[in-house]
Amino acid sequence: MHGARVETNAVREVAAAAIIVGGRLLLAQRVAPPELAGMWELPGGKIEPGESPAQGLRRELREELGVDTVVGDRIGVDVPLPKGMVLRAYLVSLCDGTPTALEHSAVRWVTGPELAAADLVPNDRAWLAELMAVLRAE
Ligand code: CDP
Repeated sequence: MHGARVETNAVREVAAAAIIVGGRLLLAQRVAPPELAGMWELPGGKIEPGESPAQGLRRELREELGVDTVVGDRIGVDVPLPKGMVLRAYLVSLCDGTPTALEHSAVRWVTGPELAAADLVPNDRAWLAELMAVLRAE
C-alpha cells in the first residue's frame, strides 16, 4: 500500500426529495448540464462529508427552493451514478416556505397522470411506479 492518499469507503450519496402535498408532487426543471436542461427532476443534491442524508437534503432544499423541510422515509430503488455515487429518493414534508425556483428554471406540482407524461430526467424514471402509487393513495 502507498499511503499518501486519504480515501473514504463511504459511498457518496445524492439525495432527492419527493414532496407531495394534496395529491401533487413537486418537480423542478434543471438548467444544466445541457443534456438535462429543460427536463424535470426531484430536487436535491450531493450529501457533503459529515452530513447525514437528512441534513444534506434539508440543506439542499433550503438552497434550491427556499423551504424548511422534514426528511422522512426512503422511496424507490438506489440508482447508481458515475464515480461510485448513488442516488436515493426520500419522502419529504414541507414545514415552512413556498417552493421557489432559486437554482432551477421552474417548479411545478403534478398529479399522477401529469407525472407520467412529464419529461423526467432518466435517473428519476426509476421511481415512477412508487411515486404514482403514493400519489394515488393521497
Ligand atoms: O446540487 P449538486 O451539485 O450537489 O447536485 P446535482 O448536480 O443536482 O446532482 C448530482 C448528480 O445527481 C447529477 O449527476 C444529477 O444529474 C443527478 N441527479 C439526478 O439524476 N436526479 C435528481 N433528482 C437529482 C440529481
